[in-house]
Amino acid sequence: MTVLDGKKTAQDLKEEIKLSVSKIKAGGKRPPHLAAVLVGNDGASLTYVGSKVRSCEYVGFDSTLIRLEESTSEETLLKKINELNHDDHLDGFIVQLPLPKHINEEKILLAISPTKDVDGFHPSNFGRMALEMDAFIPATPYGIIELLERYQIKTSGKHCVVVGRSHIVGRPISILMSQKGPAGNATVTLAHSRTEDLASLTKNADIVVMALGIPEYLTADMVKEGAVIIDVGITRVADEKHPKGYVIKGDVAYEEVSKKVAAITPVPGGVGPMTIAMLLKNTLFAYQRKN
Ligand code: GUN
Repeated sequence: MTVLDGKKTAQDLKEEIKLSVSKIKAGGKRPPHLAAVLVGNDGASLTYVGSKVRSCEYVGFDSTLIRLEESTSEETLLKKINELNHDDHLDGFIVQLPLPKHINEEKILLAISPTKDVDGFHPSNFGRMALEMDAFIPATPYGIIELLERYQIKTSGKHCVVVGRSHIVGRPISILMSQKGPAGNATVTLAHSRTEDLASLTKNADIVVMALGIPEYLTADMVKEGAVIIDVGITRVADEKHPKGYVIKGDVAYEEVSKKVAAITPVPGGVGPMTIAMLLKNTLFAYQRKN
């Protein structure tokens, strides 16, 4: 059984990016610059954004964290986005999701310039990705593709079941794996909360991508012997015994499933670190496109 080590792979990627940045700087040019906008104080979002900023510093990028109060109006956020769109010293930026309920997420994502949309959430980038044109690919599915490639997991002709149809993970990974590109050419089934008899699908899958957000949902009886399991779940589950008061759980019952399969991503240390590394990669692309 192979553990698909996202932590190590992400570290390798960061070293590659760091090297590119040092060459840029040696040439007397400014480094790539990523900004992150965080509205409110959601604990998980704070952790993710903090991690993104630290990773920028590690590879030598400039980074800016813009923190806005929970009560920030949609209008103020749109103004901030407009400013960032026109900032020549900024190559890319993200608006961390979820946003407070009084802000229309769709309106915000549409306001981000597609050329700076390193999250790949703008319809222009999503559409271009779906049409196999040059585009920013959302970091989590992009990270899964990179992990499958680096571990030389065969996807061509294989049956892949993606569980979850979110715009950020399930939908894009189902598109990417069915395309002709890297980690592609799979026959993809996109299952979701309304799917009947999910187990009959996952049991016949060569590759299962779990992006449902329900802790330990995929159990050993639901998978085929020798399958490849990608776990995108990262749910905080209350645990008084843990100093933080919670533990992070994936969508896969790791203990039992790992005994039956050929390869699996752990949680934490699987897809999560890859997401951050691919955001950096997209930012480097944005910089290279501009310069
Ligand atoms: N919230 C959860 N994942 C993401 C992500 O990849 N990007 C942004 N902006 N928000 C998120």
